[in-house]
Parts: sequence; structure tokens; C-alpha cells
Amino acid sequence: MQIIRALDQLAPALASVRGETDTLALVPTMGALHDGHLALVAEGRRRAARVAATIFVNPMQFNDPADLARYPRTEEADLAKLEAAGCDLVWLPTPQHLYPDGFATTISVAGVSSRWEGEHRPGHFDGVATVVAKLLLAVRPDLAIFGEKDWQQLAVIRRVTTDLGLGTAIVGHPTVREPDGLAMSSRNALLSADERIRALALPEALHAAAAAISGGGAVGPALQQARQALRAGGFSEVDYVALVDADGLEPLERPSENMRLLAAATLGRVRLIDNMPVTLE
Ligand code: PAJ
Repeated sequence: MQIIRALDQLAPALASVRGETDTLALVPTMGALHDGHLALVAEGRRRAARVAATIFVNPMQFNDPADLARYPRTEEADLAKLEAAGCDLVWLPTPQHLYPDGFATTISVAGVSSRWEGEHRPGHFDGVATVVAKLLLAVRPDLAIFGEKDWQQLAVIRRVTTDLGLGTAIVGHPTVREPDGLAMSSRNALLSADERIRALALPEALHAAAAAISGGGAVGPALQQARQALRAGGFSEVDYVALVDADGLEPLERPSENMRLLAAATLGRVRLIDNMPVTLE
């Protein structure tokens, strides 16, 4: 596995990894890698001849400086995991590479960015859209793989890739969960033992709401019940629990053919997000 840090080494390394015709998949990450990230690498290996990953804790997408400061950094372990997963190349850009002095360009995606995470984390999706566009332009992969764990992020990335004609196919991969149902997340490492148990209320509340709506229950009460279950389970703040159109992310008052449940809530100092599909019975 080639490990690239200097920007001027990236192009020659990519050329040698790709060879003449090999297809390349890219898995962008912020490190602190877990089995969810590694599932994206495995998906890349299934779909392309070569897989590259990036590790970059992107300051532009953190609206809260404290969140950026305590974001877990485990570079050595990350590199070992990527190597074992069969990754061919890892690029670890520095902030200076991606945000040179005088940096003044922001990519802002209207519509899908505006609600939910966009509303609760102002500027977050501008940071995501800008860095992902930059990573795709630098690596020029045939496809890039992102997790459904960040459902709205995936929608924003699909939009920016199409709108800017970046020429990379965007592939979504289902959320990888712990055996008890909690979605894997780098932030789970910040939970205390007690909070780790309480965190289960999040997938359980979404599961219950999805089952209620699938079974013909009214949407409003199902969402209200989920909010109450989160508070009863020890979440201090519930930013949203919403039924949305799975592509446009607009809220739905009634079930439709293409819907998704989204939620974000805070447990202690840790803000968790999750989402689930809802199908009509
Ligand atoms: P990060 O949180 O490190 O996640 C990297 C990728 O892994 C994202 O596509 C995310 O959706 C996916 N992922 C995280 N947890 C997952 C899980 N439990 N199951 C499946 N996939 C999971 O998301 C980011 O980084 C950044 O915003 C990034 C896209 C790299 C831009 O900076």
C-alpha cells in the first residue's frame, strides 16, 4: 500500500497504482477507522481493480471547534487497517494542501443541504461539498464510495458531483452496525460505558417508528413517540426525528414510495445521527 503525504507525489503514485486501464475506487474518510469504513473499502475492491482512501480531518466541515479538537486521531492503526483491507493507496493531505493560503472558494449545495444536519450544523455541508469536490478532482477516481450512515451527506455529494460534472460515479453503502444495532461511528469512542448502553435508544427509536409507519400508523405520533423514547433513554437534546423523501430530503407528513427516517440527538457531549429505510407493507 502506497502512503502519500506530499501533494507532488500524488499524481505519480496514482498513475502507478492505476496502470493503463485499471478502474479506481476512492473511499474518503476522516480516519479513526472502524468496520463501517472498511466495508466501504471492501465494496471498492468488489467494484474496481484498485482502491484508494483518503484520511483528512476536514476543519472546514466542523462548525464546533471543540468537536474538531476532540475528534479521534488514530493514524497508525488506520494505516494498518487499510493495508489489511487491501487498499492500494492512501493519501493523507495536510490542511495546507487542500486550503492553500488565501483560500476563498466555497461550494454550497442548495436544497438537499438546507434542512436537518444543514440547519443544526451551519456551514457543515459547505465544508463537506468543498472538500469532497477537491478530493475527487485531485484523485479523479471512476467511483467513490460513501456510507448511508450519513444519508444527507450522501445526497449532498451526489448533487455536487452531478452539478459540477466531476465524472465520478457515487456509490452508497448500507450502514454497518454493532451487533446490538448501534450504527458504527468514530464518535462512539467518545461515549462513556453508561452512554454506550443508552445510545441504543437511537436505533431502537428509529426502528419502532419505522415499524409503526410501515404498519399504517400516523406519521406525526410515530415521530413524537421516537422523540420521547430518546429523551426517556437519556438523550439530552433531540435535534430532529423526521420522515423525509429519501432523495430530496423534504419532510413528509404522509408515507410515500421513497422515504427515510432521519434522527440526530445528543448524549452527554456526543451528538449521534442515524437513519433507516421505511417500506410500506
Ligand atoms: P467519516 O465520518 O470518516 O466517514 C467516512 C465514510 O464512512 C463516509 O462515507 C461515512 O458515511 C462512512 N461511514 C461512517 N460510518 C459508517 C457506518 N457505520 N456504516 C457505513 N458507512 C459508514 O463522512 C466523512 O468522514 C466526511 O464527511 C468525508 C466524506 C470524508 C468528507 O470530509
